[in-house]
Amino acid sequence: MEILGLLGYPVEHSYSKKMHSAVIKHLSLAYEYNLFSIPPEKISLAVEGMRLFGFRGLNVTVPYKTAVMEYLDEIDASATLCGAVNTIVNKNGSLVGYNTDYDGFKRALDYHNFDISGKNILVLGAGGASRAVVAALVSMNAAKIYLVNRTLSSAEKLAALFPNIQALSFEDIKSKNIMSGVDGVINTTTIGMYPDVDATPLFSANELTGISFVYDIIYNPLKTTLLKQAEQAGCKIANGLEMLIQQGALGFYLWTGIHPPVDVMRKALAEEETR
Ligand code: ATR
Repeated sequence: MEILGLLGYPVEHSYSKKMHSAVIKHLSLAYEYNLFSIPPEKISLAVEGMRLFGFRGLNVTVPYKTAVMEYLDEIDASATLCGAVNTIVNKNGSLVGYNTDYDGFKRALDYHNFDISGKNILVLGAGGASRAVVAALVSMNAAKIYLVNRTLSSAEKLAALFPNIQALSFEDIKSKNIMSGVDGVINTTTIGMYPDVDATPLFSANELTGISFVYDIIYNPLKTTLLKQAEQAGCKIANGLEMLIQQGALGFYLWTGIHPPVDVMRKALAEEETR
């Protein structure tokens, strides 16, 4: 039996186990996907344990996507670009860190038919998830990226890594009339995530009028207050479920060499949602 799993703190409510277990079962593979909730002072031991016990691979989630990097033997270009690892592959005792959020996000945009090339995109948030999103948008030839964050210095730091990005505060959006030149909005902040489901990053529906699409990388709830407002304003909308599925599918391939049936993963999560 080959061991896969998720390293995080906490991990109990993970959707990853559901989708990976569904694929393992569907393909009758000798793999098992487990949840490993590891407190911060034990994280280096946990990574060493992975090597020692010969686990095939791990997903990494909050709060360890950056912290695990120093314990790995090799960092793939995808992870360097994103400054974070979300997937570890054990290659005969050598631990290699990848980031599949970057490609997963790009695949999700394609799936939703959101066109980035030549477009002006407003990105909310400048944390770990934002960096993968921004790197992906740059690679997809966004014309301009407005990067908005509560802590302006974080936005400035991230903006300095890529061309054509302007760091802004939330207040700047109104005072500089930014929305009039924006084609799409992407939320990477945790504002509106369960359990704080009534929260929304600033916008009233009015402010979103004329925006082509609004994408929220949150998937719990499936329709955040921001997405409800966007829908009301007539924008195309999408949540983070497809990005979660696509990053998972890419990770599964890195571990097993098998391209998993993505529809099985989608179905596993859809069933979870209707419970
Ligand atoms: P992730 O890895 O999911 O991106 P993170 O790195 O903790 O998580 O980043 C969370 C993002 O949500 C940050 O941009 C954070 O803003 P700050 O950099 O100012 O902390 C943003 N965020 C979280 N709660 C927020 C709130 N109540 N108001 C505004 N921004 C918030």
